[in-house]
Amino acid sequence: MLVVGNGGREHALAWALSRDPGVAEVHIAPGNPGTAVVGTNHPVDPLDGSAVAALALQLQADLVVVGPEAPLVAGVADAVRQAGVPVFGPGAAAARLEGSKAFAKEIMAAAGVPTAAARVCSCMDDVVAALDEFGPPYVVKDDGLAAGKGVIVTDDRDAAIIHAASCRKVVVEEYLDGPEVSLFALSDGHNVLPFEPAQDFKRVGDGDTGPNTGGMGAYTPLPWAPAGLTEQVVKDVVQPTIDELARRGTPFVGLLYTGLALTSKGLRVVEFNARFGDPETQPLLSRLKTPLGEVLYAAATGNLAGHAPLEWGSGATCAVVVAAEGYPGAPRKGDVISGGFAERVIQAGTALNDAGQLVTNGGRVLAVVGRGETLAQARQDAYERVAGVDFEGAFHRGDIALKAVNQEIAVNW
Ligand code: AMP
Ligand code: GLY
Repeated sequence: MLVVGNGGREHALAWALSRDPGVAEVHIAPGNPGTAVVGTNHPVDPLDGSAVAALALQLQADLVVVGPEAPLVAGVADAVRQAGVPVFGPGAAAARLEGSKAFAKEIMAAAGVPTAAARVCSCMDDVVAALDEFGPPYVVKDDGLAAGKGVIVTDDRDAAIIHAASCRKVVVEEYLDGPEVSLFALSDGHNVLPFEPAQDFKRVGDGDTGPNTGGMGAYTPLPWAPAGLTEQVVKDVVQPTIDELARRGTPFVGLLYTGLALTSKGLRVVEFNARFGDPETQPLLSRLKTPLGEVLYAAATGNLAGHAPLEWGSGATCAVVVAAEGYPGAPRKGDVISGGFAERVIQAGTALNDAGQLVTNGGRVLAVVGRGETLAQARQDAYERVAGVDFEGAFHRGDIALKAVNQEIAVNW
């Protein structure tokens, strides 16, 4: 197995693959110091499709799993597929579901998938007209990839206009109320196999304050989720989207991540991602009982029809991201990390310095996964483990999963 990428998601994937008895070897390109503990790292540029394909052939890999969005959008999965190696991850055409918000809206309209009303704007006059049409809170999105940081949700009209001016192409949306859910589904291009739902925390600060990030923590399952939520999302969102992409001749093979809002008017898609979400992957894979390699291989080779549902451990898991000072802006780097190789610490923005010490090397440095029979216990376990990690400038949110534990999340539909 060859995993492409170097973040927390790739560390979690490599860890889960290394525990699958059917997986003989795990390789990662390029990986991070955490993935080197569960597999073998290779210094290959994850954006270079021919280099990744060459490595896969050299390793005689049975399967390549492309983790991050940038290589997917750049067509790395296409290059590997063309080399004849099974690959889990959509080609560039289907990855546009994440790479362009305007394209995602077009697919949703064609497939009848419920989402926020939106205007794709190419000039500031259109932006101002759309802002005034929808009213506050204003939602303005950069059309292209922005690592979770291209969206502003604000009551401040001037701030919305300034954000729009900093984007190349802009989508202005109706505001969606209600709790958010992340639902992952594996697809072989036609059939789908859903994960259990998770919830992510997008804002940098406690109480959902401050700018958006790639995600500051996550937990699963959701004790407050309405009964039948997964089935409803598969029926109303995932399957119609997969069918529409297949109909266009660009089948989606990989993981379709649906970001949803459970609004007072019903379920709405906030966004699609074309890959495992980060940090939701960390707590989800920590609870997954189904061998990961087998099921990703089945998806990559068109064999999900009739596959057994995914099996999950009892209890709950909760991940808390520990970030570096400055994130989601430019983070400080190079600070020595203590506790970074402890059990259930999933590394992301880390590196080894010349002295062989583990140091910070990105905004989201690592995530710590807690487990418990109840969500409260999983949360407590996560925060106890966070206390064992330290570096200069480290910070984390203190309220991951807190509202769910306190039963303060209500779905009003
Ligand atoms: P996106 O990159 O589209 O996932 O947006 C990032 C985050 O911004 C989402 O997870 C939401 O928290 C928030 N957001 C995006 N779109 C909307 C919307 N239409 N209404 C309310 N919040 C939104
Ligand atoms: N957790 C949000 C994302 O992966 O985009």
